[in-house]
Amino acid sequence: MNRTLVIIKPDAVERGLVGEVISRFERRQLRVVAAELRVIDVATARRHYAEHEGKPFIDRVVAGLTRSPSLILIVEGPGETWKVIRAMIGATDPAEAAPGTIRGDLAIDMSENVIHGSDSVASAQREIAIFFPDLA
Ligand code: PPS
Repeated sequence: MNRTLVIIKPDAVERGLVGEVISRFERRQLRVVAAELRVIDVATARRHYAEHEGKPFIDRVVAGLTRSPSLILIVEGPGETWKVIRAMIGATDPAEAAPGTIRGDLAIDMSENVIHGSDSVASAQREIAIFFPDLA
């Protein structure tokens, strides 16, 4: 089994979409093996998005991730779990995300794009260590 990190972002928690998103994972036979609802602080959000430091959208993306509670998950499945979840999430810009994907069904605005999923095995390990150091 392989684990990856998922963040159901503040915009989705505010809209009451937690159950919808988790239910999609469970229907796909992926398992939530850790979960924490908390407000991510700015320092942790900057660490999480460290590779994007200096890009024009960094302040906006950090503000979006820290404004209210997120539901942070470790999700487990067979094979390349991070890749399966990225496919379920859809394109970064919800306006371009295919119908049937999480963003393609639930979002329209780039700054309110519902969810983050790790984009590689290495990212999953790095991000699990940031948010669940006891489980890394
Ligand atoms: S890059 O430069 O191609 O690597 O960036 P990208 O992978 O497209 O995006 C990195 C994360 O920043 C978020 N993002 C934005 N948020 C708000 N507004 C704007 N304009 C914006 N542009 C990019 C994007 O959703 C990615 O966050 P995560 O949480 O990984 O989805």
